[in-house]
Amino acid sequence: MKEISCIVEPLLLWYNSVKRDLPWRHDPTPYAVWVSEIMLQQTRVDAVKEHYLRWMHTLPTVADLAAASPDTVRKLWEGLGYYSRVRHLHQAAQIVMRDWGGELPNTYEGLRSLPGIGDYTAGAILSIAFGKPYPAVDGNVLRVLSRLTADDTDVLTPRAKSRAFSLLQSIMPAEHTSDFTQAMFEMGAIQCTPVSPKCESCPVRSHCLALQEGRVDELPRRQIKTKRKEQPLTVFVVALPQGYLLTAPRSKGLLADLYGLPYTEGHLNQEGAKEWAESQGIRVARVLPLAPAHHVFTHVTWQMIGYRIEGELYQGKDVVVPVEELSKYALPSAFNAYKKELL
Ligand code: ADE
Repeated sequence: MKEISCIVEPLLLWYNSVKRDLPWRHDPTPYAVWVSEIMLQQTRVDAVKEHYLRWMHTLPTVADLAAASPDTVRKLWEGLGYYSRVRHLHQAAQIVMRDWGGELPNTYEGLRSLPGIGDYTAGAILSIAFGKPYPAVDGNVLRVLSRLTADDTDVLTPRAKSRAFSLLQSIMPAEHTSDFTQAMFEMGAIQCTPVSPKCESCPVRSHCLALQEGRVDELPRRQIKTKRKEQPLTVFVVALPQGYLLTAPRSKGLLADLYGLPYTEGHLNQEGAKEWAESQGIRVARVLPLAPAHHVFTHVTWQMIGYRIEGELYQGKDVVVPVEELSKYALPSAFNAYKKELL
């Protein structure tokens, strides 16, 4: 990834002039950072502010949280949703009292060992409260970095996250880890927003590769994983005395405008295949099963089984093509597995 240490200074200057006055920024103790970061996961800043103030008023220390009843804790969380977050917070506070002398650990491993603290929260606590050079990488930070470096790695992959972590760690200023981490959050929240980013007033616009390349709207890249539908089909290789049966081009569907092999939906057994052939006006002599095959389209996977049907007297409306003329017909690659039967 591109070297971007040149962003550090303008970013810090900008952060110090525009940063929002948020309650957890007033006294960023490890406990305060921890509680606020857990609240801020999947929840808007505006919704968190009041909850945070009420929480810190009622439970100002880890010891208060550890000693509180589950009901008190849940009540304070009410409205923030995702209650597993608060269950883990409560459990972790009890572990901190029992195993860590009431102080949150100041190491990555120590923090990660606590329930509910993942890479992101550990990075936020270490850099904001302990002044240690551990980046906090969330979706907002990934968006900012993918644009700055015009990196189109899918941001939902572990590779994108670990790249972002290494890049940030390599440029994080030792004396300003807290401001640096929060400047990245601030960029994602108020400048480099998902839609309509404010590139004209961006403090690091002259270093932004996506802006230079006109690709801000394309980034971050996310590969949308659509679960493909599986469609069972039965494909027929119909050998008649005059040649092989091909279906004429249809106007619609996945194989529109192409000749193809006849097929029907579902997996037919040998008897069903014979009945299908008879329904096409074929006097069937033999039905031989062929190997199964599959073909992946964008939104569907065909799970195919096949039969070779040998017979005579086809009376339908599709075409019967003599073997020597088959090479003139480009069949869809979905049928590749069965093309070798046409001989
Ligand atoms: N989003 C996540 N963490 C944040 C923080 N500490 N300040 C503002 N927005 C945030």
